Amino acid sequence: MFAVQFDRFGPPEVLSVGPFPEPHAGRGEVRVRVRAAGVSPVDVALRAGRSPSGDRLALPHIPGVDAAGVVDELGADVTGVAVGDEVFGAVDVSRLGGASAEFAVLQFWAAKPASMSWEEAGAGGTGIETATRVLDLLDVREGTTLLIDGAAGGVGSVAVQLAITRGARVIGTGSPENQSFIARLAAIPTTYGPGLPERVRAIHDGRVDLALHVAGAGSLPELIAITGTAASVVTIADFAGPQLGVRLSLGDFGGEPHGRHGLAAAVALFEEGRFRIPVQEVFPMEQAARAHAFAERGPRQGKIVLTAP
Ligand SMILES: NC(=O)c1ccc[n+]([C@@H]2O[C@H](COP(=O)([O-])OP(=O)(O)OC[C@H]3O[C@@H](n4cnc5c(N)ncnc54)[C@H](OP(=O)(O)O)[C@@H]3O)[C@@H](O)[C@H]2O)c1
Repeated sequence: MFAVQFDRFGPPEVLSVGPFPEPHAGRGEVRVRVRAAGVSPVDVALRAGRSPSGDRLALPHIPGVDAAGVVDELGADVTGVAVGDEVFGAVDVSRLGGASAEFAVLQFWAAKPASMSWEEAGAGGTGIETATRVLDLLDVREGTTLLIDGAAGGVGSVAVQLAITRGARVIGTGSPENQSFIARLAAIPTTYGPGLPERVRAIHDGRVDLALHVAGAGSLPELIAITGTAASVVTIADFAGPQLGVRLSLGDFGGEPHGRHGLAAAVALFEEGRFRIPVQEVFPMEQAARAHAFAERGPRQGKIVLTAP
């Protein structure tokens, strides 16, 4: 099969498209012929040699954890899906990649509705899984006021919308360029960076119950100050969180329950017109190097996606 791949760590130009051995679906997995695959921060960090997980990569490596495509092989014990079905989801994240190729093996998935484009579907998997997992962990519900630090990217833009569908009021941080994008997601926008408690007080009259830290470094003490307790803050990106009493939520290895239930719930909301998957830019897989170079620059408005030829 063809695959986007790199055989050494380095700048985006180390990426090429070339032949690669086909993967096969293991127990509980499906293989898809890929139509679109998301580009995630972990793909960029691994390729650049900036991720400690790079030590366990076998090179050459295929980047990408999110994919959408047509099922062409079923692993053992897979039910509820058939060869030929259109689905989207994510690879087993412990493999750190494999999605941007002719064929990819998905660990969790949902049926792609006809109204969802391949690009949107390819962007959805881990963003929806992660957002669902952390909103569940924080117990975001009707009447909650939630601050999301890093609201415009692949995870944040999904978390804002899913929190609002739960009845929460959301304050979202972003770069100055992203204030209107965050407002269009129906969050109250403000900028990230030092002085956040003062800015939040200026735009929100009342308590902030919970905070989700998605991106950026050094803001956890301010998020604790805003909510009043570290127990009300969850981070997905700051490994120093536990030292401050903040819960750090990592990938849902095994894909259950947030992967499958999260994707199915998001599809239902998508079909009701209450949820969308923001796609900022689409590149053909042959231009994966351009896509990674784009991903290294902000501001971000949802996901960057690669399409298969
Ligand atoms: N633990 C997990 O399960 C898990 C799962 C998925 C992702 N992640 C991690 O979560 C992080 C975000 O992922 P993503 O896919 O949303 O990334 P992304 O799509 O690249 O978006 C990055 C976001 O970071 C924001 N940002 C940049 N500087 C910031 C700052 N100083 N303070 C607050 N926000 C800032 C950006 O805002 P502007 O564009 O407005 O500048 C943008 O919204 C990454 O580190 C990723 O590796 C963790």
